[in-house]
Amino acid sequence: MRVSVVSRSGREVVKGGIELHDSATVGDLQEAIHKRTKKFYPSRQRLTLPLNPGSKEKPVVLSYKKCLQDYCDGNSGSLTVVFKDLGPQVSYRTLFFWEYLGPLVLYPVFYFFDVYKYFGYEGQRIIHPVQTYALYYWCFHYFKRIMETFFVHRFSHATSPLSNVFRNCAYYWTFGCYIAYYVNHPFYTPVSDLQMKIGFAFGILCQVSNLYCHILLRNLRSPGGNGGYQIPRGFLFNIVTCANYTTEIYQWLGYNIATQSVAGYVFLVVAAFIMTNWALTKHRRLRKLFDGKEGRPKYPRRWVILPPFL
Ligand SMILES: NC(=O)c1ccc[n+]([C@@H]2O[C@H](COP(=O)([O-])OP(=O)(O)OC[C@H]3O[C@@H](n4cnc5c(N)ncnc54)[C@H](OP(=O)(O)O)[C@@H]3O)[C@@H](O)[C@H]2O)c1
Repeated sequence: MRVSVVSRSGREVVKGGIELHDSATVGDLQEAIHKRTKKFYPSRQRLTLPLNPGSKEKPVVLSYKKCLQDYCDGNSGSLTVVFKDLGPQVSYRTLFFWEYLGPLVLYPVFYFFDVYKYFGYEGQRIIHPVQTYALYYWCFHYFKRIMETFFVHRFSHATSPLSNVFRNCAYYWTFGCYIAYYVNHPFYTPVSDLQMKIGFAFGILCQVSNLYCHILLRNLRSPGGNGGYQIPRGFLFNIVTCANYTTEIYQWLGYNIATQSVAGYVFLVVAAFIMTNWALTKHRRLRKLFDGKEGRPKYPRRWVILPPFL
């Protein structure tokens, strides 16, 4: 079988095309492209079927496990695929590790070191118990997220663009410093003992629930499986599609009840906004995949992320 690899403008990406055996998969084609153009390793390649001129449809993305014949549409002798360079890639684990490592390391810097003298505050700093508990709470949260990244999540995509590392690190590292600066500040005023206890107790309960939600999501996929989507069930997933985001938002609420800073609440609002957008997309995707037609199960009625509002 001869495969022509062209860019979106129709220019040949691999001169003269590629000759492959008839049972070759998309993965074999990606390896062959990589052999001919060293820069384009498989995860950097996005291969689609060409669209008719003027078509407004979304192009079909070739799945690496499928046979090329499946995309041939009758003419098994040749195939044209459209190549897009996705740019340098990193694994999802690398991306998540770096974005969570920043807040895990930077927050304690504000607690343990006298950084405030560089901001013009001289003199003795008194550390309140709530600041110490907040440090433990914060570090537990980000440590848990790194552990989940390596030992719990089963990602569907192997890689993410390298540029996302810089974008996500900017988000997490900046917010980490912003919150740490105010919560560990020498002029910080603690809330009442009761409010602190309620906040941390509620937050810890939500962190543990969040871990359990991630374990339930993990169990939807088999190890080494194809990364498809299932209907999440059990625990809070019986009520809400993105229960992992719900518990994430509530655990930040717990932290903010206990520590009460404007910076913490700003982060809560921004994070809730981001997760709500993602949850809406995930909810729509599951409803589309499980539409109850042609033997497919119907997605049950559920809240998206924050019952009883959404
Ligand atoms: N504070 C913040 O700003 C913030 C923002 C985002 C996330 N977070 C935290 O980080 C955690 C991870 O975030 P995330 O966006 O990666 O979570 P996610 O996509 O909702 O889920 C985590 C894992 O479960 C898989 N999964 C989700 N739904 C599935 C389904 N229906 N069937 C099979 N597998 C499914 C995902 O697969 P895919 O690889 O296919 O997605 C992913 O590997 C969140 O739960 C939250 O605690 C915090």
